[in-house]
Amino acid sequence: LRTAAVIPAAGRGVRLGPGAPKALRALGGTPMLIHAVRAMAASRAVSLVVVVAPPDGAPEVRALLDGHTFPERTELLVVPGGDTRQQSVALGLQALPDDVDVVLVHDAARPLVPVDTVDGVIAAVRAGAPAVVPALPLADTVKEVRPDPEGGQEPVVGTPERARLRAVQTPQGFDRDMLVKAHTTVTFDGEGATDDAGMVERLGAPVVVVPGHEEAFKVTRPLDLVLAEAVLARRRV
Ligand code: CTP
Ligand code: MG
Repeated sequence: LRTAAVIPAAGRGVRLGPGAPKALRALGGTPMLIHAVRAMAASRAVSLVVVVAPPDGAPEVRALLDGHTFPERTELLVVPGGDTRQQSVALGLQALPDDVDVVLVHDAARPLVPVDTVDGVIAAVRAGAPAVVPALPLADTVKEVRPDPEGGQEPVVGTPERARLRAVQTPQGFDRDMLVKAHTTVTFDGEGATDDAGMVERLGAPVVVVPGHEEAFKVTRPLDLVLAEAVLARRRV
């Protein structure tokens, strides 16, 4: 039995601004998706990576992957994604062969996650946790507000104690059967679930936290690209 990584990469990247789909944007001259696949393939435990491409972009993504080198042990599959991240992950899960028992789900938008973080997540799943998330304490204090769709003033509803909060990253790791059950039984409104562990929580199953890493940050807005370029440049010296 083996470990696979599913990489949802079907998003447009609206918050990053106009241009190619976010996963195909360059970082140090190489598409973010290639960095993300290499970050998963860097773990000796990962023998399969399933890339979930934009709905109409699977052939293009397949060609992109074929033009890069990855470790010999890494098998690569490409499937078309869906309208929401949750749908894209579900489509990736459907492509998994029978011999996969542990699944990582990793955002293409987190291209720089270190291999130690990946290995830490896998180890915690192999040690018996059905769902594992890497996470970090928050720097900012968080307020809950009553959102105003019109963009007006938003009253504060409360301030959760910061010491009890964690910002969660990916890869999140799962017992395959648990994650598939979550994706086939749990329903969310609107945008769907923004993380997979949240779906497993809805099943009432335990989710555990392992240490995340600052370099596993998500490239979401233009300033994140500046930071990502700087992290890459520092690695290259
Ligand atoms: N994702 C996906 N399918 C979607 C939407 C998102 O596979 N329909 C993926 C993105 O490609 C990304 C990850 O989910 O790797 C995390 O999502 P996010 O950072 O929100 O990326 P986007 O949805 O592309 O960005 P935005 O929300 O700014 O449009
Ligand atoms: Mg999004």
